[in-house]
Amino acid sequence: MATRGDASGFVPDSTDPARLREASRSCKGCGLYRDATQTVFGAGPAGARIVLLGEQPGDKEDREGEPFVGPAGRLLDRALVEAGIDRDEVYVTNAVKHFKFTRAANGKQRIHKKPSRVEVVACRPWLLAEFGALHPELVVLLGATAAQALLGPSFKVTQHRGELLPAPEELDGHPGQVLPTVHPSSVLRAPDRDSAYADLVADLRAVPSR
Ligand code: URA
Ligand code: SF4
Repeated sequence: MATRGDASGFVPDSTDPARLREASRSCKGCGLYRDATQTVFGAGPAGARIVLLGEQPGDKEDREGEPFVGPAGRLLDRALVEAGIDRDEVYVTNAVKHFKFTRAANGKQRIHKKPSRVEVVACRPWLLAEFGALHPELVVLLGATAAQALLGPSFKVTQHRGELLPAPEELDGHPGQVLPTVHPSSVLRAPDRDSAYADLVADLRAVPSR
């Protein structure tokens, strides 16, 4: 199959999330498939009105094949409960669908490495296909990689966190709005974890209740 240096040659013309998920397993749209265990596609109900967008799967997600099932996911789950959002009603996915890592000096531990802009752009066709399948109303952007995947590389989360913003027009109203906030991993690393966590919950409370 011809590749254009991105995922587009692997994305089927389908609005069935299960079909997209299955096809994503054989994506070679960038080099990240080589060292990762498997593709970690988005997960959640097909009728979800809200999408939560992270950066990329971590070590645990790579092994289990599901998004946000590691430490960041546990923190996110708690924050969602506190913000009154039911995780079972939202679709959770990542800007990049393969785990990128380096090996620690001892060769055992796999250390998360931020995806490059080229990898984010290469993986975008999957994200756009997920939006095309779900037609979400709102996408919550968890951290800079997620925000910049949709809003461009100069977008600053710190200046707009917690604000409901119109989504770029190229998305044709699916979603109509985005809500940038920080990544749950940044809360785990913050010097003052309690206040970082409270700020994340406050941002998530901007999600309109139905
Ligand atoms: N961090 C992310 O951005 N996504 C995951 O799925 C897990 C951790
Ligand atoms: Fe394909 Fe995305 Fe994986 Fe790259 S990261 S191989 S574009 S699914």
